[in-house]
Amino acid sequence: MIRVNPNYSKIQANYLFAEVARRVKAYQEENPSAQLIRLGIGDVTRALPAACVEALEKASREMGADATFRGYGPDYGYAFLREAIAEGDFRARGCDVSPDEIFVSDGAKCDTGNIQEIFDLSARVAVPDPVYPVYVDSNVMAGRTGPAADGRYAGLVYLEGNEENGYVPEPPQEPADVVYLCYPNNPTGAVATKAQLARWVAWARENGALILFDAAYEAFIRDPEIPHSIYEIPGAREVAVEFRSFSKTAGFTGTRCGYCVVPSDCRAFDADGNAVPLQPLWKRRQSTKFNGVSYPVQRAAEAACSPEGRAQCRELIDGYLANARLVTDFLEARGYRCTGGRNSPYVWFDSGMESWAFFDKLLREAGVVTTPGSGFGRAGAGRCRITAFNSRENVERALERLGSVL
Ligand code: MLT
Repeated sequence: MIRVNPNYSKIQANYLFAEVARRVKAYQEENPSAQLIRLGIGDVTRALPAACVEALEKASREMGADATFRGYGPDYGYAFLREAIAEGDFRARGCDVSPDEIFVSDGAKCDTGNIQEIFDLSARVAVPDPVYPVYVDSNVMAGRTGPAADGRYAGLVYLEGNEENGYVPEPPQEPADVVYLCYPNNPTGAVATKAQLARWVAWARENGALILFDAAYEAFIRDPEIPHSIYEIPGAREVAVEFRSFSKTAGFTGTRCGYCVVPSDCRAFDADGNAVPLQPLWKRRQSTKFNGVSYPVQRAAEAACSPEGRAQCRELIDGYLANARLVTDFLEARGYRCTGGRNSPYVWFDSGMESWAFFDKLLREAGVVTTPGSGFGRAGAGRCRITAFNSRENVERALERLGSVL
């Protein structure tokens, strides 16, 4: 008899964004004429940069001629893209990362969800709370936790984020083998300083632990003091894997391309405590289960890394950052304390109400879709996340509507 994976029954509720979509759909069916403005899921709305579109077109034409057609690509990504990434995203910032340490994928969600497969099931996992749900759910599905009670799974180490610590928790006192960190943070928009990340790197080195650093939003950093990569911290190569995405950087949420960095000297340990390099395990995992990103999309990603592409991406992001500033100013003028909104597309604030009740209020009274903070964990209770991913006009219209509700 085929039995289902029992760990799936531990998972609490729907995937957050599926639940948001369900409520929005139900409301829209009851109110077919309602013109909703979506500031909920972090999904980009503006067109791809021109450099990426040109590259997509050119590569598609290559695929249409026998002489230039390409079948399966290299397992870990085309050299042209891995080189462009290593040069532009890392070496240009003084980070020692080489092209063969870069593993191209279809996005940071997949990579951050899949990476746990290469760790022992007994690994003690630390996650921030609030947290991007993928880090937690992928470990629950794998069987690394007990059941949930009161919004938290037995066996996970929760690192509480709050206004006091600026949503940048300190390393835990209790034992943990691996920690997920995300800065600029989803959902809170918080950023971590070099000194804060250096404490995490020191902790990982002292404890034989590993940092899984999600830098999907690094392109939103404008403050020159804020690090873009964990590898800006000395000693990080041995203890950190980094995840990046073209989704928010170049508008690729529907195009799909991301990558992770697994340095050659990044290590975990075997049962006898001997250091084991992680890179061969990740290579083995990817070559078994993943067949790469399409050639045209990798060419488009390469174009996003060109000087012209980078300038176009920056302009896109500047537009979203200006929206984030509008939202933050609006909320702060009404007395809400906000995190994020600068160096981040997310604005996070204490709504003063139960999260889903506040979500429903904004949906029903203003036709504005947000994301309830409690969906990101217990520490998100009462909070709300608004994204800046929409047109300026829609953000202005949303704020006008919210003005009469808040
Ligand atoms: C979000 O809204 O948190 C993002 O869309 C999640 C993601 O990128 O998967």
